[in-house]
Amino acid sequence: MKNKLEEIKKQALTEINSVNTLEEIESIKVKFLGRKGELTNIRRGIKDLSLEEKPVIGDLANRVAGEIESKIQEKYQALYKAEIAKKLETEKIDITLPGVSRPYGAQHPLTSTINDIAAIFQGMGFSLAENINSPEVETEYYNFDALNFPPDHPAKDMQDTFYTLNAPNLLLRSQTSNSQIRGMEKKAPPLRIISPGRVYRSEAVSSRKNNLFHQVEGLMVDKDVTFGDLKGVLNEFTRQFFGQSRPTRFRTSYFPFTEPSVEIDVQCIMCQGKGCRTCSGTGWLEILGAGMVDPNVLKNVNIDPDSYSGFAFGMGVERLAMLKYAINDIRLFFNNDVRFLEQF
Ligand code: DAH
Repeated sequence: MKNKLEEIKKQALTEINSVNTLEEIESIKVKFLGRKGELTNIRRGIKDLSLEEKPVIGDLANRVAGEIESKIQEKYQALYKAEIAKKLETEKIDITLPGVSRPYGAQHPLTSTINDIAAIFQGMGFSLAENINSPEVETEYYNFDALNFPPDHPAKDMQDTFYTLNAPNLLLRSQTSNSQIRGMEKKAPPLRIISPGRVYRSEAVSSRKNNLFHQVEGLMVDKDVTFGDLKGVLNEFTRQFFGQSRPTRFRTSYFPFTEPSVEIDVQCIMCQGKGCRTCSGTGWLEILGAGMVDPNVLKNVNIDPDSYSGFAFGMGVERLAMLKYAINDIRLFFNNDVRFLEQF
């Protein structure tokens, strides 16, 4: 039995030495140490041995089993390490290879101008109108009638406004002022909203005019809102947008939905007020329209003009961006020429 054990040990060690894969070592383990293995067989027979033989053989069997076990472990570790090393070698990624670099995009100058304008008014307590209150496809009522436009107003003419062919009262809004009406219908005063968006006009396209452009509308309604509030808010806006040193002036004007109405000019940025082609020699450039909300408009949305008053304003985003960045053709905003867009 002793010899048998020695033989098993010898055989096991040779076999362990010669294996090359983890599967092989696994089957050797089963063969020698498994429940049906040779060694296990012998150990089962120990109980039938004589009293003297039992401890000797038992001890030897334990040692042989331990030795085979630790050799298997050793081999297993070695093979495992080798396998991992091989994997790392074959699955290696060459991180020194330069990546494909893609050029960064940037915000469109109209988007950043709108964001700048919105941020200034948000700083003065105005909040952005919800999109649903500022639709681009609009009814004649919200674009004109509720804003106190008389039925025969020239802006309502097909020459100036895009009407839809199949629904007689639907049009592409010609101004963001529709959001004033929708805003006041949705929420009772006090309210302070600004509403940026696209507007459309049936116009011959030129360096100064496009069929589609953007406006930012503003509206404040509360008790005791005065023309002084209008002046304060809009002067603060021009100061922040154009910088402290650019003079502004308020000029009387007319809009159906405000009374009194004004237009605000800034000193021409091209000639510093001396008079040039950009400002048609006047030294001033118009940047926005504004005024005190006409009592008729308040009545149209069931706000009592004896208790509430308000002011409104509307500005052209392209115009403001052109003045701020000295851009001389409105069409540049819509051509998406990278050479233009890259400069912002
Ligand atoms: N909606 C006017 C336009 O498109 C601009 C405007 C003027 C808006 C005066 C206003 C305002 O809210 O009070 O020409």
